Amino acid sequence: MIIINDIRIMQERSRAARLKGERIAFVPTMGFLHAGHLSLLQEGRRRGDLLVLSIFVNPTQFGAGEDFASYPRDLAADAELARRAGVDVLFAPEAPQMYPAGYATYVDVEGLTETLCGASRPGHFRGVTTVVTKLFNIVAPDVALFGCKDFQQLAVIRCMSADLNLPVEIVGMPIVREPDGLALSSRNVYLSVGQRQQALVLSRGIARARELARSGVESVGEILAVLRALIEEQAEARIDYLQICHQQTLQEQERLDADSVLLMAVFIGKTRLLDNALLFSR
Ligand code: PAJ
Repeated sequence: MIIINDIRIMQERSRAARLKGERIAFVPTMGFLHAGHLSLLQEGRRRGDLLVLSIFVNPTQFGAGEDFASYPRDLAADAELARRAGVDVLFAPEAPQMYPAGYATYVDVEGLTETLCGASRPGHFRGVTTVVTKLFNIVAPDVALFGCKDFQQLAVIRCMSADLNLPVEIVGMPIVREPDGLALSSRNVYLSVGQRQQALVLSRGIARARELARSGVESVGEILAVLRALIEEQAEARIDYLQICHQQTLQEQERLDADSVLLMAVFIGKTRLLDNALLFSR
């Protein structure tokens, strides 16, 4: 595995691979790698000749007062995990090269970004779509892998990619969870032991919603009321949003159907956790 920090060198490496007819698979991340990221790398390894991982804590997707400065970072440990996962190139650019003085260009997806995380974190998706576009232009992947953990992010990137005719196949991968159900996240390290226990209410909520759906409850209002009560039993839990939406449009639904996805963002103490699930799959 080689580590590249410089944008031009990364572009040259990708160009050389393409000239040899190699397929480039790409996994963009903000690092502090866990088994969720590794599942993307494993699938990327299967799909590409050259596997590129990027690690970049992207300042433009964090709002004022969010955790950009404290976001966990450990490049040495990540490099070791990446090497073992079969990564060929670890691309870790520096912020001043990605956003030099005078930087002025942003990519904005309308509609899909206005609800859910987009409503709670204004400007967040503009930062995500901008950096992903830049990374795609630098790495020039044939296929890029994203987790369904960030369900709205995946929908937004699919939309951007289609709208801008980006020559990249976007692949969505299932959520990887701890044995007790907690969805893996780099931010889980913020949780105290007690909060870690309370955080299980997200996956328990999903299980409860699926039970209700399968038992024939069709009213979204009824299901969300049950979940709200369940979450509010936890002393340090505060709901940011809790919605059931159509999986493609992300429009809120009133009655469940085969496309219903439960989406939630819940603060446990100061840590904002995301989880989601299609209510009728598997
Ligand atoms: P990050 O939070 O590091 O996540 C990188 C990728 O890993 C995303 O596609 C995310 O959905 C996926 N992922 C995270 N937790 C997962 C889990 N438990 N199971 C499966 N996949 C999981 O998402 C970002 O970084 C950034 O917004 C980025 C796209 C890199 C742009 O800066």
